[in-house]
Amino acid sequence: MTAPTLEIHLTDDDLTAALRSDARAGLTASPKTLPPKWFYDARGSELFEAITQLPEYYPTRTERALLEQVVGEIARIARAEVLVELGSGSAAKTRLLLDALSAAGPLKTYVPQDVSESALRGAAAEVAAEFPGLAVHGVVSDFTDTLHNLPRGGRRMIAFLGGTIGNFAPAERAEFLTAIAQVLEPGEQLLLGAGLVIDPSVLVPAYDDAAGVTAEFNRNVLYVLNSRLRADFDPEAFRHTAIWDAANEWIEMRLEATRDMTVAVADLDLTVEFAAGEQMRTEISAKFRVDGLTAELDRAGFTTEHAWTDPLQRFALVLAERR
Ligand code: SAH
Ligand code: AVI
Repeated sequence: MTAPTLEIHLTDDDLTAALRSDARAGLTASPKTLPPKWFYDARGSELFEAITQLPEYYPTRTERALLEQVVGEIARIARAEVLVELGSGSAAKTRLLLDALSAAGPLKTYVPQDVSESALRGAAAEVAAEFPGLAVHGVVSDFTDTLHNLPRGGRRMIAFLGGTIGNFAPAERAEFLTAIAQVLEPGEQLLLGAGLVIDPSVLVPAYDDAAGVTAEFNRNVLYVLNSRLRADFDPEAFRHTAIWDAANEWIEMRLEATRDMTVAVADLDLTVEFAAGEQMRTEISAKFRVDGLTAELDRAGFTTEHAWTDPLQRFALVLAERR
């Protein structure tokens, strides 16, 4: 086995500087808000993995089952030499793709990319051990500002799985898809996993599970603020909520203050007041319709080659070619 290599574009200091800026902007906004990428320190990445095992959280197992069915076809169309995966996390489902791409042809390199160094190191080491002939090159970065650093050369496919595309606001999403198209050469591919609009009676429990794991994941952003910026949030004084926004077709996670609170963020020299009942948005998770998604891909510079959905129409995998 060749040991995986790791390229770090986000040091600990970079992360702290970025969090300072996001926290100052978000905690002084009205309503208050925080970007979802701050869930994913080592504990947050573990909590996300626990979410993927929950009975209520259908996206991961639905995407996995769909991928199992269609991965051969994806590999035959893509014939990728390099698989780049954005927001790779534990890369659990990626093994299916790596197997199929290796069987179909010339796969040489896997480039997992994530903001969570702990998740990335774990996934890169495991994949390198499981696929001894594959070069594994991990990249720790923010996918919104370092796409241009991704390796070039060899026929590439970029995978963006799990429905993470839904965690962008619509305007940012358009910008992001366009940026992906711009780093690809004509003929290279994007494989996108996206959650579909479904009945809120299934959707809402997926984001508000009975065991409270998603609540803990949501509150983890407050632990991150406490440890990185010396804030004094009492995370347990915030209640997790998940609300389906039918107009925007997204589910929104919020943290609600259960009492009046004054929170000090020492490293920002900032004091933040929360009124009892006040809600702070921590994530949107947009759900899609296949036609809407292929239209968005088209506007970004992609031609959809294939869109697969599961039998219950809960999740889609779209393979799109850069024009
Ligand atoms: N792709 C995996 C993990 C999805 S969870 C799956 O399908 O299960 C979302 C992943 O994206 C996490 O690993 C998180 O650390 C990463 N992530 C979130 N925001 C990010 C950002 N701005 N830049 C890079 N990675 C990010
Ligand atoms: C990573 N992302 C696609 C997950 C989602 O479903 O939006 C994050 C998550 N939030 C709550 N549960 C899981």
